[in-house]
Formats: sequence, structure tokens, C-alpha cells
Amino acid sequence: AINLKGRDFLGMSDFSTEELQYLIDQAIELKRKLKAGEVYQPLKGKTLGMIFEKSSTRTRVSFEVGMYQLGGQALFLSKNDLQLGRGETVWDTAQTMSRYLDGIMIRTHAHRKVIDLARGATIPVINGLTERSHPCQALADYQTVLEHKGRLRGLKVAYIGDGNNMVHSLMMGAAKLGIDFAVASPKGYEPDKRIIESTQDIADQNGVKLTVTYDPKEAVAGADVVYTDVWASMGFEEEQKDRELAFQNFQVNEELTKLAKPDYLFMHCLPAHRGEEVSEGVIDGPNSIIFDQAENRLHAQKAIMAAIM
Ligand code: CP
Ligand code: NVA
Repeated sequence: AINLKGRDFLGMSDFSTEELQYLIDQAIELKRKLKAGEVYQPLKGKTLGMIFEKSSTRTRVSFEVGMYQLGGQALFLSKNDLQLGRGETVWDTAQTMSRYLDGIMIRTHAHRKVIDLARGATIPVINGLTERSHPCQALADYQTVLEHKGRLRGLKVAYIGDGNNMVHSLMMGAAKLGIDFAVASPKGYEPDKRIIESTQDIADQNGVKLTVTYDPKEAVAGADVVYTDVWASMGFEEEQKDRELAFQNFQVNEELTKLAKPDYLFMHCLPAHRGEEVSEGVIDGPNSIIFDQAENRLHAQKAIMAAIM
């Protein structure tokens, strides 16, 4: 049996294939329960602290609502209000919060801070996005793909665009879950080399094909899923103009998606910039499942919290 009590949720690489499959199955089950009107409150009396050092719509609302539905409550803690924002150490924050809370979710810039927080805390810590990764989104995304395609193993996911937090979590998740994965980015915007290497190791063990290319057409060819994300992530806004130039041949549009399977799914973690990384016709078209992804953040994170807290 799978027991994740007390574990942190910091990255896809920390979990085995079976553990990720278990969390996805739980997410689907919690979604069914919610839609059937079944009350399920394993976290009664528990509190999640949510530290936000960046903006959020989906992550904040889905964690807060999810905690409420599980019988507990969530506290929104902005860096503007916390002493952390005035120089209190991560260690002291982690130790103090562990005396009140049952879990911490954090969205921040440097991944290091999340690692340090988890080290200092005696309660589970959840990564709600860093510059390095966004594992909650990737878990919800593979739940969404499974719901639409009925399977994961043997599918091909193509990611077009910035080698950012999103692609890091998606490609590691794919390698673990048996999904072939191709990423195409412009020169200078590739995914992190070390993450590619560690993903390749898992892919090799798991019989998964990983393709890293500069050619969007090669990546999208025969894909079951075409995924993209913004060209300038949070914290990189001042590079917007340079990036628009570098990424001009990396838009996911009607011409590019012709190369994917006819029943391909278009995915985007949101927020999106229509007319930049994706054309309006594709993101608002019949193959797009962006709001199913957004919805599944709720169910996937409830599965995570119920399992670890
Ligand atoms: N996809 C995602 O994490 O969205 P938010 O930034 O709105 O939380
Ligand atoms: N890559 C994006 C994802 C937002 C959910 C960012 O980091 O801004």
C-alpha cells in the first residue's frame, strides 16, 4: 500500500511511478466524490499556510477551496505581510509555522528557498511554483490527459516554447509515467541541462523517448498533446521584448498543430497570452482543454494534501 503521510511535495522527481499514479487515481476519486455530493473531510481541524511571493489566480483559489472541502482551512500569507519579507530567516519562519500549521504551500522565485523551508519545517511543504518547477500543475495536467485519453503510457506530449519551470515538471512527470516527451525551444531558452540529464536517466529506465530539439515541427509531429506556456514567466517580465523576437517561430497555431494527431489535445497551464505563444484559434478551439486543467488543480491538490497532511 502507498503511504505518503508526512512527505513533502517539492518535485515530480521525488515520487515513484506508483506514487504518482496513486495521486492521480486519488484526484480522480476525489473529483467523483465532490460531483456526487459526498462529503469527505479527512483534514478536519487542520490548517494549511499558503506563502505567496508571486501572483496567483488558480493556485491560491484551488488550494484554499480544496482545504475547505477537505474539512480544514487555509491561510493566505503574502510576502508583504510576513516578517519573511523583512528579513526574518527561512529557518525561523519554518520552525515557527510548524508550531501552528499542519502544512505549508509556498510559491516563490528561488527553488532553494522551498528546499530550505522544507528542511526547517517539521510539517509537509508543497511547492506551489518556483523558477525551477511547478509539480502541482504537472500532476493535475496528467490527470487531465488520462481523463481525456483513457491512458498515459505510450502517448506523446510535445512542449513548445520556453525551457521553464513548467516544462521541467512536465518532462520529469512524463518520464515517470511512461509518456514520450518532446520539447522544442529557441537557442538560449532550453530547459535546464541537469534536469534534462536526470529526466533522460528516468526515461531510459522506463522505456520512454525524450526528444530535445530546436524544431517545433519535429516536436509536434504525431503528438497526442501539444502544450505551451508564456514566453516570459513571472520574474522575467523585463525580457518580454527580447523574448518576443527569440520566440517568433514558436507560436502554437493552426499551421503547427496540423502536424499533431487529428485528435490532439491543446494544453496550457494559464495565464495565457493569446497571439503570442498560442493563437486564439487553437487556445479557444475544439482541441483545447485548458479549463479542465485548471479545474483539476483543485482535485489533484486535494489528493496531495489528503495524502501527505
Ligand atoms: N497555472 C497556475 O499556477 O496559475 P496561477 O499562477 O494563477 O496560480
Ligand atoms: N511559467 C509560468 C507559469 C505560471 C503558472 C510562470 O512561472 O510565470
